[in-house]
Amino acid sequence: MSERYRRSEALLARAEKTIPLGTQTFSKSKTQFPLGVSPFYATRAKGSRLWDADGHDYIDFINSLCSVTLGYNDPDVTAAVAAQLENGVIFSLPTELEIEVAELLTQIVPSAERVRFGKNGSDATAGAIRVARAFTGRDRVAVCGYHGWQDWYIGSTARNRGVPQATRDLTQRFDYNNLESLDRLFREHPGEFAAVILEPMNTTDPAPGFLEGLAEATRKHGALLVFDEIITGFRLANGGAQELFGVKPDLTTLGKGIANGYPLSAVVGRADVMQLMEEVFFSFTMGGEALSLAAAVAALTKLKREPVVETMHRTGDKILKGTRERIERHGIGKFARTTGHPSWSFLLFSDTPACSQWEIKTLFMQEIQARGILCLGTHNVSYAHSDADVARLMQVYDEVFPILREAVEEGAMKQYLRCPPLQPLFRVR
Ligand SMILES: Cc1ncc(COP(=O)(O)O)c(C=O)c1O
Repeated sequence: MSERYRRSEALLARAEKTIPLGTQTFSKSKTQFPLGVSPFYATRAKGSRLWDADGHDYIDFINSLCSVTLGYNDPDVTAAVAAQLENGVIFSLPTELEIEVAELLTQIVPSAERVRFGKNGSDATAGAIRVARAFTGRDRVAVCGYHGWQDWYIGSTARNRGVPQATRDLTQRFDYNNLESLDRLFREHPGEFAAVILEPMNTTDPAPGFLEGLAEATRKHGALLVFDEIITGFRLANGGAQELFGVKPDLTTLGKGIANGYPLSAVVGRADVMQLMEEVFFSFTMGGEALSLAAAVAALTKLKREPVVETMHRTGDKILKGTRERIERHGIGKFARTTGHPSWSFLLFSDTPACSQWEIKTLFMQEIQARGILCLGTHNVSYAHSDADVARLMQVYDEVFPILREAVEEGAMKQYLRCPPLQPLFRVR
């Protein structure tokens, strides 16, 4: 047991007696955080800071997996939730809040003419695919990126245990920025694709004409284009990647940024397609839960009122520029690089002759976590990250990047690591 993470590790050992994987979210589990050098449980968070079960605090660049766009415990969101709590959480009838949030989404997201809510992002993506299948009368789906835990999608990944082969056969992957890879699928199965769903941007900028080409190809082949903007929505621009790049999909899925971390997601899109939701079964007991909707009104109103995405972009630019400079200055460019959009950027490691990318990432996490930074290799910026937070991150990189270089150059990773390295994870992007 490590001294620094004593309570976290004790909680993990206790959790594993009742909770497979020790937690509910794969990306918050021991598969991502190296055992012995990591915190596993949080007690509270405020703004850009998170406190772990051992009382250490961190500047958090994971940001609850991009879901707290405004920062933790945002005062406007918390006040709205507290006020709603006085009136109740869930009722035998829907509330006006559903209408208010739907109206806000139609104002903010270019493709949103009609709106239905879910709780998790996976609800939204599964709903979008079902309504696309109903609208087109077709079964096949082309995917690119990560779209959640449900059968229709996860069957196309290496983590497909428990998904029937018949379902897996209906979902095929195509490559980002490669229209030919999609065209091949259309040629192999003419008239069979209901939908093409993708993250409109994750690690890589769309090549000129790529998103427009997707819109044209789906139109030509009678499939619907679905942008999964569960991360990019309310982040790349208020109206997401579709606003930033000027391409309107038929359907859009939204999630993480809607309610600043309260559980709410949405399928939005073309009125004629979405109207089918009157017949397609998409229904949740908790779908109209009022605290999350009140949080969404506060979060979306703040997004419209204040320079949230501009500030995230500026902060992220400083992080990207500073990280690139330090990769260069500390001579780690052979195995480290940055990519992505400033408000959701990636620090990626690659294999070297002496060390695997997983060993390098493990050492990176060991050293940054010991210095009060949480980061899984992405910089998930929020409105609450300050210039001082960025300066501290850069200071930590100035200390940690030379350690990575030494460990790699000496081929002596085992002497540097105080824990077993992370195991290779299944890749979805
Ligand atoms: C692009 C994208 N789509 C879908 C999902 C699934 O959302 P959830 O985990 O809330 O079900 C995620 C989650 O990370 C995501 O990033």
